[in-house]
Amino acid sequence: CRSPDTFIEKEIARIRQICGEKGRVIGAVSGGVDSSVAAKLMHEAIGDRFHAVLVDNGVLRENEAKQVHKMLSEDLGVNLTVVDASDRFLAKLEGVEDPEQKRKIIGNTFIHVFEEEAAKIEAMAEKELETNPGGEVKGKIEWLLQGTLYPDVIESISFKGPSATIKTHHNVGGLLKDMKLKLIEPLRELFKDEVRALGRLLGIPAHLVGRHPFPGPGLAIRILGPVTRDQVKIAQKADTIFIDEIRKAGLYDQISQAFVVLLPVKAVGVQGDKRTYDQVVTLRAVQTEDFMTADWYVFPPEVLRRISSRITNEVAGVNRVTYDISSKPPGTVEWL
Ligand code: XMP
Repeated sequence: CRSPDTFIEKEIARIRQICGEKGRVIGAVSGGVDSSVAAKLMHEAIGDRFHAVLVDNGVLRENEAKQVHKMLSEDLGVNLTVVDASDRFLAKLEGVEDPEQKRKIIGNTFIHVFEEEAAKIEAMAEKELETNPGGEVKGKIEWLLQGTLYPDVIESISFKGPSATIKTHHNVGGLLKDMKLKLIEPLRELFKDEVRALGRLLGIPAHLVGRHPFPGPGLAIRILGPVTRDQVKIAQKADTIFIDEIRKAGLYDQISQAFVVLLPVKAVGVQGDKRTYDQVVTLRAVQTEDFMTADWYVFPPEVLRRISSRITNEVAGVNRVTYDISSKPPGTVEWL
């Protein structure tokens, strides 16, 4: 049985030994608990020789890039670069409706942006040396940090989960395996609850440690039909209200994952004596142990009432809220 403090101590020593005096490491962070804990651990071990990169793909949650920047860079002191590539992603997604197509575009664009960023970081170190020849010689970036957990390791060597064969799951780790860098995976022997315990010990705020998962392709797989800036805004606003009300009702930790899906249909409604012809959203909330199967969550009716009322009043362009009562199977957690 591992205690989190001895794990941290041993892992920091191991990372220092692997990286040596000069070795530099790069890693993508998403705002999720795994990549944040891995990044903080790496920062504790080698300080500014670790570079974290957050790619804003234009389909993150509302204020996500700012919040991750604040938490990792300002609160935890991690050396973080936020790359705003939202125009590039949204341009590539323009007019695309097919779910697998959306996933592929986001995955491929992500790798390109990340590789370019790694090259920029190296070029910057060389330039610094040119202008200050007596300065520190920084090693090349040789290592890639990944927040792989034990269940990911098991899944990739022994079997593919049912949904992996149904949709191409993209997570930052899986995609970056194709890069030429050597991997460092400090969490690869841990389960999620152990990572959360580590996170708490490393000073990562509680609201982040207990966060619901968020898929790599982001809101693009929660917007049915084409992804536009307007649709992203609607999806973000509705999502913020949904999660806010779940938190206020004290239900966040009972639910494994909750989000809003923007449907590609319009319905007639009436608001302030006026006819409206606006979009419909659906709420999705599930309870699950392992995300292979999931049950839809039974909300107290008054919570649903508040959520519906706030979304239709506060999100322009939406006049109906529905609730998804499908389990997995036959549904999947996400709609795309
Ligand atoms: P499904 O929809 O397959 O989702 O039942 C199961 C869990 O996986 C998440 N998910 C993803 N996570 N990249 C990710 O990092 C992906 O491409 C992806 N697709 C689905 C989903 O949010 C749920 O937690």
